[in-house]
Amino acid sequence: MDKHFLYQNAVQCVEAEIDFVEVTFQSLKSRPARRLREDFCGTAQSACEWIRRHAENIAWGVDLDAEVLLWGENNNLVELTQQQYNRIELINRNVLDCGIVNMDVVLAMNFSYFIFMERDLMIQYFKSVKDSLTADGVFFLDAFGGYEAAKEVKEERACDGFTYIWEQASFNPINSQMQCYIHFKTDEGVKMNRAFSYYWRLWTLPEITEMLLIAGFATAEIYWEGTDNETGEGDGVFTQSKIGTADASWVCYIVAEK
Ligand SMILES: C[S@@+](CC[C@H](N)C(=O)[O-])C[C@H]1O[C@@H](n2cnc3c(N)ncnc32)[C@H](O)[C@@H]1O
Repeated sequence: MDKHFLYQNAVQCVEAEIDFVEVTFQSLKSRPARRLREDFCGTAQSACEWIRRHAENIAWGVDLDAEVLLWGENNNLVELTQQQYNRIELINRNVLDCGIVNMDVVLAMNFSYFIFMERDLMIQYFKSVKDSLTADGVFFLDAFGGYEAAKEVKEERACDGFTYIWEQASFNPINSQMQCYIHFKTDEGVKMNRAFSYYWRLWTLPEITEMLLIAGFATAEIYWEGTDNETGEGDGVFTQSKIGTADASWVCYIVAEK
């Protein structure tokens, strides 16, 4: 049982995420993005995917936790060719002040920035991202919500050889802070309780976009997922939207141009 391996397989779909980043940047800026910083990178899966996409792509991954960076180095970066490996760097620093600048793209995915609970601190983070971007750089974030996001629930999803369990253990409506956990259970019945713990604030989309604009971004647009007519589920296609659907739970992208 390796919690990072299980997390990567259950939670992340970096191919779809990087597809979205490539296509959206090209359509907004009429040029390809080359320099990408993955904030809160964890095992740096997205940064590795970026490197694999093009021989001129360069990536930096930033995370506070040296242990998770080492795991990424030993399990993801080792899979790169030498030429690819030369174009990626993992940095053990705080995203609030990491000093990695001149970026075409900064990513803050899997809601990691929800860890900043005060408005001033979030704006400080957004400002530092804006200052790290090139003149036409773009910041990509994701967010989740819906009326089930504020519920205390436990949901199971079957994965290849194990079960992924997402628990929203507590939610305080007064400050919108919540405690979430990820648990895993192998098909053989071995349990890994609280493999990951997240204490964060459930921010709303208008709060996030307002803070991005206050931080100085020129735009802060929501890209909402379309619906598959047959299944009624999300179709994986995210388009710029002004009106979303009142789904029980949703995930969207936020795209902020400098
Ligand atoms: C939810 S994980 C995200 C992992 C990966 N980026 C993903 O998309 O799945 C959050 C990560 O943020 C890191 N982190 C939390 N606060 C941070 C900070 N202020 N600066 C840098 N990294 C931070 C944690 O160490 C953890 O690895």
